[in-house]
Amino acid sequence: MTADPTSPMRPRRFQASGPLRGRIRVPGDKSISHRAIMLSSLAVGESRISGLLEGEDVLATAAAMRAMGAHVERVGTGDWMVNGVGVGALLQPETALDMGNSGTSTRLLMGLVASHPIQATFTGDASLSKRPMGRVIEPLSQMGADIAASAGGRLPLILRGASPAVPIQYRLPVASAQVKSAVLLAGLNTPGQTTVIEPVPTRDHSERMLKGFGADLMVDVDPNGTRVITLSGQAELKPQTIDVPGDPSSAAFFVVAALIVEGSDVIIENVGLNPTRSALFDVLRQMGGSIDEIDRREVGGEPVADLRVRHSTLRGIEVDPAVAPSMIDEFPALFVAASVAQGRTVTTGLDELRVKESDRLAAMASALTLAGARIEEREDGLIIDGTGGAPLSGNSREPIVTHLDHRIAMSMAIAGMASSQGIEIDDTRPIATSFPTFESLLDTLADEVAA
Ligand code: S3P
Repeated sequence: MTADPTSPMRPRRFQASGPLRGRIRVPGDKSISHRAIMLSSLAVGESRISGLLEGEDVLATAAAMRAMGAHVERVGTGDWMVNGVGVGALLQPETALDMGNSGTSTRLLMGLVASHPIQATFTGDASLSKRPMGRVIEPLSQMGADIAASAGGRLPLILRGASPAVPIQYRLPVASAQVKSAVLLAGLNTPGQTTVIEPVPTRDHSERMLKGFGADLMVDVDPNGTRVITLSGQAELKPQTIDVPGDPSSAAFFVVAALIVEGSDVIIENVGLNPTRSALFDVLRQMGGSIDEIDRREVGGEPVADLRVRHSTLRGIEVDPAVAPSMIDEFPALFVAASVAQGRTVTTGLDELRVKESDRLAAMASALTLAGARIEEREDGLIIDGTGGAPLSGNSREPIVTHLDHRIAMSMAIAGMASSQGIEIDDTRPIATSFPTFESLLDTLADEVAA
């Protein structure tokens, strides 16, 4: 599903840019899109999804749900229609499920398969095959699934679901929405109550959408902030109409680009602002960024607003590690902003970044260093001394290595816009996993200058 490894890499040099101006709309939220396809596939009857992200990761989820019996199709209007099979009625896929680059597809679908009487093989690309699956293998095995993984708990793996599965009470050892969601999705076809205890809150799209589909789910928050999420199993889900809000993680690149390119003034419409996702915007405001919310409203059960972002003088800060889970995918973009800010930015508590689509601490440290930034890589974060508003030099000899990681590619693309000689990245293909229209939107905003 992901960038075809046999097709040639697609390098590109992202050049210094004049002011970014105009109004754009980013595609649908990736996390919500995955969940919308999965839950619709388990509801009996027809669900309709508008604003679905048509990126490779979500298409991998759609293909997997088809392989397990759901009807998932795009209709003429650009909406998606899903006819589900019902909880407990997933079919055994005839061939391996190719998860491409997508950790979310893999971990959440492992949860679904874990409580069905079927067997599935999960495969993925070179990046995904290095990522740890032990974190979901552990609770799903406790629920009775039989999982044969490659060395180190990695893909490819074969999962044989349990029937019936055993309900568990599981305390998350890492702050991970994927692990939480895998257990809750397994709980859907498990008799009794499945409980996830979450000491550090992570994105809550699964909880919101499960409730929206009619599942019996309760969330209690104890005085120290620990969330206890309880799902009563063997639920029936009712088909829904879902409007997917714009992805704040995709908007992040344009927010940072507008803040760091002089003279910019951009409106990004319909950006999801779920508090478990939106910490980047707060951190950038603390750094002096001008980010205004216009017309806060609700879309698909999630808060959204249009964001007006203007070029700003940014100041380095110490980023509170407690906010990390609410901006876990946005650190590469933040590192770019910090590289051209005044003074020092210190980030800590980011061990999880080492097990994303790439080791994002190492990848961003070497990418930004190559582009002329001053970076010190620590075990759990980066320390960045900004240029004080001056452009980065850019790279001239070797291209930036993106390691099949869409967010490294997009972060360095926007860094290129605030550099004197431009920044060349080795491969733009991974961008299509989450944001297929990224380059055309970037070119549109930059074009408006010339117009
Ligand atoms: C996601 C959760 C996060 C995030 C990923 C999407 C999700 O991963 O990094 O891009 O949709 O649940 P972790 O759960 O591993 O933190």
